[in-house]
Amino acid sequence: MANRWRLREASSLADIGCGLCHWSRLLYPYLHAPARFAGVDREERWVAEAARNIRRAFPHVPPDLLTTLQGDATEIPLPSDSFDVVTCQTVLMHLARPAAALREMLRVVRPGGLLVCVEPNNFWNYLTFTSLTAQEPVEVLVRRFEFWLRYHRGKAAAGEGDHTIGDLLPGALAEAGLTDIAVHLSDRAAALFPPYNTAAQQALVEQGTQWRDSATGPWDRSELRRHVLGGGGTDELFERAFGELVGEFNREQQGIAVGTFHAGFGGVT
Ligand SMILES: C[S@@+](CC[C@H](N)C(=O)[O-])C[C@H]1O[C@@H](n2cnc3c(N)ncnc32)[C@H](O)[C@@H]1O
Repeated sequence: MANRWRLREASSLADIGCGLCHWSRLLYPYLHAPARFAGVDREERWVAEAARNIRRAFPHVPPDLLTTLQGDATEIPLPSDSFDVVTCQTVLMHLARPAAALREMLRVVRPGGLLVCVEPNNFWNYLTFTSLTAQEPVEVLVRRFEFWLRYHRGKAAAGEGDHTIGDLLPGALAEAGLTDIAVHLSDRAAALFPPYNTAAQQALVEQGTQWRDSATGPWDRSELRRHVLGGGGTDELFERAFGELVGEFNREQQGIAVGTFHAGFGGVT
């Protein structure tokens, strides 16, 4: 991606909603050195840690080139036309007003610069096919589809973000007046199959074990209910589909424990 984006020709990078700078620490080494970096995040606690992370990662870069700032994506505390590359990763999906953040990022990127938005459509991850899917009645799967669709609609309606935003971004950029737009898909899959012994699979297995004894799986029941109902779902839909969901999660965990569960988890994001 760095080659496609010709990052070697860029010497400044702004990461909006930088969190702990995981994303910008990956990109930064591909820029023309010594590159200027600014990370912006709404959360004060991430900003301080992000500064430590980025400076520790690139100890030979003069620290005044590496700044982190507290600020909102819809009111970015950076001058107009000031960065060669402006980017965000999994940030627009959480915003009530993603279009306002896009406008701000376009203001900050210099004319002819590059805007890189890495945002998913997470919806498909809720509907992946696994070694258990064939045993589930079609009615249960259709109900689960409705459950998650209503959940995502409710969440967006509550102003808590749109986790399907990835599919809408190219059009949003076109509507914002951009013409040179490219769309790429991640080719990574979080496949899980016995004996689950790669580092990535071990991490997934370990994550699941945290919730093995939970009556609600990994989910916050009241948050799910609020959004399913907010998306026009009924209590009956919620109760049935939620029970089925937790049941499926538990069967998945049992399958992992005895080494029978598997899935490609190749959902496009
Ligand atoms: C899922 S994290 C992604 C962090 C980072 N981009 C990465 O890929 O590692 C979302 C980040 O967006 C930040 N964020 C959420 N709403 C924001 C806003 N309105 N303005 C700026 N940052 C925001 C959060 O504090 C969090 O650090």
